[in-house]
Amino acid sequence: MEDCYTQHSWIGGDLKFSYCTEHDLPDISRMLSKESVCRWLFFGPNTEEATRAYFLPLIEEMRTALREGRTPDHHVFTVRLEGTGDFVGQCALFPVDFSPGSFLIGYQLDDVYWKKGYGTQTCCFLVYFAFTVLDGYRLNGDTVAGNTASRRVMERCGFVLEGTQRRYWHAADGYHDRMIFGLLKSDLAPERLSALEKAFTG
Ligand SMILES: CC(C)(COP(=O)(O)OP(=O)(O)OC[C@H]1O[C@@H](n2cnc3c(N)ncnc32)[C@H](O)[C@@H]1OP(=O)(O)O)[C@@H](O)C(=O)NCCC(=O)NCCS
Repeated sequence: MEDCYTQHSWIGGDLKFSYCTEHDLPDISRMLSKESVCRWLFFGPNTEEATRAYFLPLIEEMRTALREGRTPDHHVFTVRLEGTGDFVGQCALFPVDFSPGSFLIGYQLDDVYWKKGYGTQTCCFLVYFAFTVLDGYRLNGDTVAGNTASRRVMERCGFVLEGTQRRYWHAADGYHDRMIFGLLKSDLAPERLSALEKAFTG
């Protein structure tokens, strides 16, 4: 089994997923300054300062853990095209308090790369990483009810709708329901897990 402190990048299809570093912040800031990308997010569009202030402590936590040969608490990845290194987006696994092995997922892709299957590939990478590399048992996702693309991404990766919180978010354009999705490692057939292991390599 691969571990995350000797290996910092993984390849799947034509995407490369690498632990985020400070060098990625200009690309991430540019993406998160876009109205299109933030339309269904509870934050943004961000200034460059706001993006740096959010990501820098996470990058520092990951860098320190990886340098010391420990598994980081947070796993924030930059997604790039494997061939050219062009920036595609970012994705993350965050720990759920008091529940080792349970993680919250997140992903944002730059709008020029939407509708090519990269969102699904990115979410599948998080499933692979959480269940295979980190040996987790549960993934949690949520989205605004109107974010059809994000709902479909999770469904395509096997997540099931576990509930809806009505009028959970209040934004300038009104109230939004929150849809809660979950995926247990035990939901996945052994063949699906081994297919994921084959799909993502170092
Ligand atoms: C959500 C996001 C990652 C989807 O990425 P993507 O690369 O376009 O997704 P895929 O190409 O893998 O498509 C997955 C599904 O979503 C559908 N889809 C993609 N964009 C869509 C849109 N704008 N409206 C409706 N459906 C859409 C695709 O048709 C596909 O559905 P299908 O299985 O029925 O064919 C991307 O739109 C994004 O980064 N959005 C901004 C940030 C965000 O909302 N993140 C999620 C927060 S919960």
